Parts: sequence; C-alpha cells; structure tokens
Amino acid sequence: MSLWQDVQDTARQIFTNYNYKEIQTPAFEEMELFARSMGKTSDVVQKQMLNLQSQKKSDAGDIHSGELSLRPEGTASVVRMYIENALDRKENISKFFYIGPMFRGERPQKGRLRQFHQIGVEVIGPGASHPYLDAEVIALNVGLLKAFGLKDFELKINTLGTLDNKGNIRELLLNKLKPKTKELCSDCQDRIGRNVFRVLDCKNKSCQKIVKGIGLGYDWLDDESMAYFVQVKEGLDALGVKYKEDPSLVRGLDYYTHTVFEITGSSMGSQDAVSAGGRYDHLVSQLGGAEVPAIGFALGIERTILAMGKSQELAVTPPDAYIVGLDDLSFKKGFEVLSILRSMDISSDMSFRVSSMKSQMRLADKVGARSVIIMGELELEKECVALKDMETGDQEEVSIKNNDYAGLVDKLRERQQ
Ligand code: HAM
Repeated sequence: MSLWQDVQDTARQIFTNYNYKEIQTPAFEEMELFARSMGKTSDVVQKQMLNLQSQKKSDAGDIHSGELSLRPEGTASVVRMYIENALDRKENISKFFYIGPMFRGERPQKGRLRQFHQIGVEVIGPGASHPYLDAEVIALNVGLLKAFGLKDFELKINTLGTLDNKGNIRELLLNKLKPKTKELCSDCQDRIGRNVFRVLDCKNKSCQKIVKGIGLGYDWLDDESMAYFVQVKEGLDALGVKYKEDPSLVRGLDYYTHTVFEITGSSMGSQDAVSAGGRYDHLVSQLGGAEVPAIGFALGIERTILAMGKSQELAVTPPDAYIVGLDDLSFKKGFEVLSILRSMDISSDMSFRVSSMKSQMRLADKVGARSVIIMGELELEKECVALKDMETGDQEEVSIKNNDYAGLVDKLRERQQ
C-alpha cells in the first residue's frame, strides 16, 4: 500500500505541474460506448468485456439486459464527458488525468488482472493537434515512470497515419498475410477475417516471425503523415527521450491514428506493456462530438509496481508511541491518553489487554514503536508517565499533571523528525 500511495502521490504532483485536472468517471457505463470507441472487433470488446445484467423493460414489455459494462479503460468515458459538456467550445485544450480501477474479463495471472488500476491522461481539444504535443505526452509518460523509480524500460513508437493510411496498411497486411493463413495460429486465422491489425501483436512466436518476414515499411503512409511523425520524433529528441521505432506496433484498440506508443519494462520478460497510448483524432466526432484531435496514454499501476520489482517489499510505518497500562486503572487512563495523542497527530496504539510489562513491551517492540509510554499504579499516583525511547533504551519520567500533555507531546514530536 505504501508503494501504491507513493505512485499515486507522485503522479498527482507531476500532473499538477503539467496543468492536468483530475477527473473521475463511473465504474460502469453503456456497453455501446466502449464497443463503439475501442472497436467491435478489438480483442477487449470481443473477449474481455464484463457486462452487467441490467434489466430494463421496454414499453412493449421486452426485457433488455446486458447493456452496461464495467469500464475496461478510461478514454471512452472521458470523451463522453468532453462531448456532454461541449468542452470544445469552452477550452482550446482540455487536459485530464484519472486514477482508478478498470475491469477486463481475463484469465487472472501475474500482471494480467480482472480488476487492475490505471493512471491515465487524455488531452483533447481544437488546439491539440501539434506533433510536439505527442512528444510532450510521451515525455510525461516516461517522466512518470522515472519518477516512480522504474529504471529499465523501453519506449516503442510508431505511426498509423490518417484513417486513409490505416486503410492502406490494412490492405497491405491482408495481401501479405492471407497467403500465409495456414501457417498462422488459430487465433490469427480468425483475426485475418475480423481485424488483421491484431495479427501484429500476437504473442505466438511463429506468427511474430511471419510478421517480421513481411518487412513492414512506411510505403503505405502519405507524405504529410510522415512529416508529422518526423516532427514527433524531433520533439522527443529535443526533450531527450530515447525511443525505438517499431513499424509493427499497431495497438489493440481501433481509435488510434498517427502516433502510437508502448512502454515495456525489461524485467517483465513477456511483451506485456506497462503503459501505452496514442493519438485518437476522430474518436470525439465518432462518438457524436466535434471534429477535435486528442491524444493520451494509460499506465497500469500493478504492472508498473511489478516492473519496479518491489512488490515483495513490505514497507510499514511504525507508530510513534505505544501505550502500556499495567493495571485496570492505568489501562483506562492510557486509553484516554491514546486518543489525545492521536488528535495531536502522534500515531499511537496500545494492546487492548492488561498483561505483564514484559509481554506488553514485546508487543511494542513488534510493532516497531519509537517510544513506549508506561503507566502503572506509581505513575497514576504521581500524575506522570514513564517514557521509554526504544532506540536508545533511555527512560525518563514525564509529567501529565492536571491532564497537561504538552511536555509529553513535545518529546514525542521531537522524535518524529
Ligand atoms: P491499454 O493498452 O489497453 O490502453 O491499457 C493500458 C495499460 O493498462 C497497459 O499497458 C497495462 O499496463 C494496463 N492493463 C491493461 N489490461 C490489464 C490487465 N488485464 N491487468 C493489468 N494491467 C492491465 C488503454 O487502456 C488506452 N485507454 C490507453 C489510452 C489512453 N490511449 C489513449 N488514451
């Protein structure tokens, strides 16, 4: 949890520096929204949607069900919100970030969960068309991972060009892959008919070999799109971001045009990306909004933490103080002191059991408390506590006469630094 918190705190700080606003969208929405945005033939929509059986009776008495889905990603919902609020007329560029759970019907395994968490950004608006914005968004993604402490990762970039260019590459892929259908895995044989782009990110080694063999260049890309891509790379160079060009990187969701990118952690072995994104210049209009360009990315928090190799570290923050009450009356007084310390922002705890000094000290040691406040008959009588510093072993008497805890609080605060 502390790693988790660190990642989120760091992300919020960096997003604020970049002038991004936080947004929360619902955990479930109309299934149609996701199907239309990611594409009905995408693997997520075909195989991984978790649909809800909402029951709605139409006027004719028919029952419609399964119209809602747990959100598999954040982009579609942000675009819906953008359209509903007509933000294209209010802002030149709208910059959002979100942190939250996403859901995909997968077979759960390491790095592949049914409920996982994304940190994502979406930049949308009439002013979001410059290739340097692509570079900035990619640099932000890289900067985030670096700030989390991830060292070994690789950024791959590619361009899909315009919608027309995408049509060209689809044709080219079909021409080259159809004759090899029989050599492809059964999934890819199905993908050729459904969505040939998906063959390019098949994890099967022999399919990858075939894809490599077709030598995808950029012949299908028009000059303007090539010039755009060159400028994106120029921007990345200017920002000192290292990347590798990968013409076979197409991404699994239909809404992308022009720039696409993926970041993989080298320690993760498989091809599972830690983070991914790209430009989606036509999604807003496809979902009923204005024709405005957009770009974004999302990183998986669990995969990032896995790639950091820190998932096994148990980082707990021990309490500042632990209270030991040696008899019933001291226990009661200790219970009061506990609540006062907590209200003064001194993290503290006690064992809810009156037992021997030795056994309670053992408990204090186990939770790693910096100080132990010991209270017994003698202390009650003298209106004081025995304060033991667990680091040095020193023990001293501190007055709490007339319920004045200032001296005790001061000493505990000093030890907080
Ligand atoms: P995506 O590639 O589907 O893109 O997911 C982004 C990231 O979410 C992945 O790189 C991975 O870290 C994490 N992720 C996805 N599925 C799982 C899973 N089953 N278990 C654990 N982690 C997972 C998108 O979602 C796009 N919306 C990104 C985007 C934003 N493009 C433009 N704007």
